[in-house]
Amino acid sequence: MSKSFSITTPIYYVNDKPHIGHAYTTIAADVLARFHRLNGQEVFFLTGTDEHGAKIAQAAEKKGIAPQQFADEQAAHFQMVWDTLNISNDDFIRTTEERHETAVVALLNTLKAAKTPLGNDFVYEGEYEGTYCVGCESYKTESDLVDDRCPLHPNMETQQLKETNWFFRIADYTDVLKEKLAAGEYAVQPDSRKNEMISLLNDLQDVAISRRSVEWGIAVPWDSDQTVYVWIEALMNYVTALGYPDGDNFKKFWPSIHLMAKDITKFHAVIWPAILLAADVPLPKLVYAHGFFTIDGQKMSKSLGNVVDPVGLAEEYGVDAVRFFLLSEFPFGNDGDVSVAKFKERYNSFLANGLGNVVARVLTMASKHKDQLQPVADHPLKPVVEQAWQQYGPALERLAFDEAITAIWRVLAECDGYIEEQKPWELAKTDPAQLAVVLAGLAETLRHVGWMLLPIMPDTAEKILTALQGAVHYDQSPQELQQWGGLTDFSQIQKPDVLFPRHQAQ
Ligand code: MSP
Repeated sequence: MSKSFSITTPIYYVNDKPHIGHAYTTIAADVLARFHRLNGQEVFFLTGTDEHGAKIAQAAEKKGIAPQQFADEQAAHFQMVWDTLNISNDDFIRTTEERHETAVVALLNTLKAAKTPLGNDFVYEGEYEGTYCVGCESYKTESDLVDDRCPLHPNMETQQLKETNWFFRIADYTDVLKEKLAAGEYAVQPDSRKNEMISLLNDLQDVAISRRSVEWGIAVPWDSDQTVYVWIEALMNYVTALGYPDGDNFKKFWPSIHLMAKDITKFHAVIWPAILLAADVPLPKLVYAHGFFTIDGQKMSKSLGNVVDPVGLAEEYGVDAVRFFLLSEFPFGNDGDVSVAKFKERYNSFLANGLGNVVARVLTMASKHKDQLQPVADHPLKPVVEQAWQQYGPALERLAFDEAITAIWRVLAECDGYIEEQKPWELAKTDPAQLAVVLAGLAETLRHVGWMLLPIMPDTAEKILTALQGAVHYDQSPQELQQWGGLTDFSQIQKPDVLFPRHQAQ
């Protein structure tokens, strides 16, 4: 296992407030960052905001404020939301920061001097004529449009552009990218996305990388009449935040894993790798494009009024419930539909009844009888716990969050079954020795549940571990904490506060 682990989310546009879709990617990245930290790796978890381009300039203008002031306010809001959702990012990059702008200029200058594998200049000047969607900040082909409009932004007019721009000669990388993708030199997952990218590579076009008509951006270093196309400098955040070209973090943490939704796979899985190859920088380890959410079967959109605010949801149900809900509902690579009604239902069945109930039952009894408890080396729950660890770690390595969660809930179901079978409330009257065995085993099992939950539901996990041991003993190695028998001192056991109060269905 490599000593360092580095993961990124997309940098989000600041034209809007973060919604549950942005939270989805960010929480997933957070779980992986926390999981790898617990595994003893040095982690760099990066998120941030994408602040340049026409879309942001227009949103600022609508508000009647300068783009920088607008971006400052919105970026602060993103940071507040991530704090609320307990996101443990190590850095937050804003594309209007000087460190970003300086490194973008350095990278562009390197690219200006680069040759493609076919011996051509990577950067050239050319005519761009075509359609542009400001909503996507992206060039569109005929086949992308429906009735001359972008299907993702049907309320916006597309623009007809005719400009002399700078281009990256991406098409020269077709064969190299195909080879590297096939050889696994960089991974694109899930496989459906990888196949989609392979077919895209059959018709790869060069990319215009500058705009004459957009002022809100970074000036092209060799042509001050133009700004860098916002997507190009946005992609560069992944290395500028690490201190490209010679920062310590760049040396230590690059290449990263990039998480995003499938809408922006091409930028990450084709264009970005071609840029990196031209600049002679190693390719990302993995580009993982997860599915898209709909709400009650519909695309989330302001005009439909169905945008779900993760902070509102967290205020009502708690941060950990939001984190649990988003990651447990469907496999990470798939599309899925969420609804507030389903959220309530799952809250009650999995959290109030499932987890909350088992923790309350075990700790109420164990705290009452803690003086009689001793470690039990051979316990019927031991193989249950061992099997759960075997499923849990590999599932998270594969970004199968739902499977890792299922592994934990299987342990909880086993605990429930064991309690029903052993009836500790009767043992209290008839067989105190067996009662001690039952409760010690259950308490030890909850310790494992606590550690497995830690990356996913950090506050809840800390409450469980603190109720068992008085504190969370972070100084243990992964091997130590996963071993059966780690709970040796039962004297600290306390009954915890109710973890998940039941929600009445409305
Ligand atoms: N600024 C670009 C990204 C540049 S990265 C170099 C951008 N920003 S965005 O604000 O539009 O964010 C897109 C990302 O938000 C998606 O890739 C995904 O991570 C997340 N999601 C936004 N809506 C979502 C859903 N409805 N469902 C799942 N993820 C969603 O694109």
